[in-house]
Amino acid sequence: MVLPGLLPGACGTPLISLLLVCCLLPPGAPGQQFPLRVEVQSPVVPAGGSFLVNCSTDCPNPNLIALETSLSKEPVGNGLGWAAFQLFNVTGDTQVLCSGFCNDVQTTGFLIITVYRFPERVELLPLPRWQPVGENLTLRCQVAGGAPRRNLTVVLLRGEEELSRQPAVGEPAEVTAAVLAGREDHLANFSCRTELDLRPGGLGLFQNSSAPRQLQTFGFQGPILNLSEPSAPEGTAVTVTCLAGPRVQVTLEGVPAPAPGQPVQFQLNATETDDRRIFFCSATLRVDGEILHRNSSVQLRVLYGPKIDQAKCPQRLTWKDRTIHVLQCQARGNPDPTLHCFQEGSRLEVPIGIPFLVRLNHNGAYSCKATSSRGTQTITVVMNVWDRNARAVSIVLGVLAVLGVVTICAALLYVFGVHRHSDIYHVNQGSTSLPLTSRQPEEAVGEDPS
Ligand SMILES: *[C@@H]1O[C@H](CO)[C@@H](O)[C@H](O)[C@H]1NC(C)=O
Ligand SMILES: *[C@@H]1O[C@H](CO)[C@@H](O)[C@H](O)[C@H]1NC(C)=O
Ligand SMILES: *[C@@H]1O[C@H](CO)[C@@H](O)[C@H](O)[C@H]1NC(C)=O
Ligand SMILES: *[C@@H]1O[C@H](CO)[C@@H](O)[C@H](O)[C@H]1NC(C)=O
Ligand SMILES: *[C@@H]1O[C@H](CO)[C@@H](O)[C@H](O)[C@H]1NC(C)=O
Ligand SMILES: *[C@@H]1O[C@H](CO)[C@@H](O)[C@H](O)[C@H]1NC(C)=O
Ligand SMILES: *[C@@H]1O[C@H](CO)[C@@H](O)[C@H](O)[C@H]1NC(C)=O
Ligand SMILES: *[C@@H]1O[C@H](CO)[C@@H](O)[C@H](O)[C@H]1NC(C)=O
Ligand SMILES: *[C@@H]1O[C@H](CO)[C@@H](O)[C@H](O)[C@H]1NC(C)=O
Repeated sequence: MVLPGLLPGACGTPLISLLLVCCLLPPGAPGQQFPLRVEVQSPVVPAGGSFLVNCSTDCPNPNLIALETSLSKEPVGNGLGWAAFQLFNVTGDTQVLCSGFCNDVQTTGFLIITVYRFPERVELLPLPRWQPVGENLTLRCQVAGGAPRRNLTVVLLRGEEELSRQPAVGEPAEVTAAVLAGREDHLANFSCRTELDLRPGGLGLFQNSSAPRQLQTFGFQGPILNLSEPSAPEGTAVTVTCLAGPRVQVTLEGVPAPAPGQPVQFQLNATETDDRRIFFCSATLRVDGEILHRNSSVQLRVLYGPKIDQAKCPQRLTWKDRTIHVLQCQARGNPDPTLHCFQEGSRLEVPIGIPFLVRLNHNGAYSCKATSSRGTQTITVVMNVWDRNARAVSIVLGVLAVLGVVTICAALLYVFGVHRHSDIYHVNQGSTSLPLTSRQPEEAVGEDPS
């Protein structure tokens, strides 16, 4: 015989010795042929309640039938082989143990009593005063008390419709559920309910409900923000309209409608800069002195282009042969254009925006063409490619030419300089004796000391 460790606090009492005695009894001992029965009307009792326990045995010679419990008890009767007791004020799960003697051998029996109690408080926490339609509403239910917890479930309800069913965990237990608020939820009653399911224990299903809370929803049908053309070709007129339900005041791009319930609109001539422009409309509604807001936005797409950006496409380029360069060019538009540059004549294509090796055959005029479903635009780009060798040759030739000129000049200067020298020489030396006309160039050369 094994006893669970579920005995009440009074373990240090003679109960322990009784248990030890009974446990140490060898199986099949004479007393155990006639065990003690522990009978109650139900092993599941309400908290704070009282119940009758009947300890009985079929032993022909029974003696000293007693009941061990931590609860207050009162004997209510006995007879041959039985004794009955009333137990009071049961507050938690407990064990009752009957003991007695049969043929001077101790005999026992026990029973576990489960206590149930209804929750003290079941409350659906307050709902928002106004719930926007199309947004999630969070329902929270708090449950304080209630036992046994493993048999307690919390149900969240819209009217009678079950939205969520969860076990009660924690003290107080809180369960939450999100529901998408619809227009039909306006004035709906939300609540929560606990279910204490004691049907396996032979009792019933016990429900406790929270007070209902009524939801107020609001919806503006938007506000509805309309574009006469969501994708407008450049240069066309686009009408932007914002409207909402009756009594709703709308404001479009900062301009309020003349009165609540009326739409507000304006027209614009779609330009390239309006592409991807976002229009805002805000709506306000006064209910019960409260102001409710909703906003809407819409994006306009303007179809334009293709346009080649002249500033971003240099139209004259001068590059050296066998150097790496990038041809910069951009086109814009909606839809996005493609851009290609082909050499006029050869149809040689140069990549745009990525480095490439410039060769002599790149020299020439290119036609750069942007294309989209809306059309094309073309510009001409002229690429001058220098030959490096040609340049080197011209440098060498230039240097040689310069050298040649210098040599000739030097020669001329020399010759001319000797003449001058001879003249001076003759003047200095023979100003008194020799006439200037008598000199000979040959002599002068021979006489020059330097
Ligand atoms: C207790 O059980 C015995 C035997 O089953 C029965 O005779 C007796 O009437 C019961 N007493 C009460 C108070 O129920
Ligand atoms: C049960 O408990 C209550 C309050 O705790 C007490 O007033 C009452 O006297 C108790 N009843 C018995 C029979 O002990
Ligand atoms: C509402 O909540 C559900 C689940 O919690 C989630 O899947 C859904 O995306 C939410 N909806 C909105 C509009 O927040
Ligand atoms: C919600 O409860 C209120 C008051 O109990 C009742 O007047 C109303 O009709 C209920 N709403 C719904 C949708 O059942
Ligand atoms: C509580 O629930 C468990 C499991 O569902 C079940 O075994 C047990 O008998 C229930 N308790 C009562 C008192 O009904
Ligand atoms: C809970 O429900 C039970 C019956 O299901 C009822 O006797 C009890 O008074 C309720 N408790 C509360 C706090 O309403
Ligand atoms: C706004 O646009 C929606 C859908 O594009 C259309 O159903 C509605 O009639 C339009 N309303 C107005 C006022 O143009
Ligand atoms: C829009 O502007 C363009 C250029 O300013 C003009 O040519 C065109 O006629 C305008 N369209 C409208 C509908 O006003
Ligand atoms: C709506 O827009 C206004 C101004 O544009 C802003 O002040 C407000 O907070 C927005 N309201 C919501 C609910 O987004």
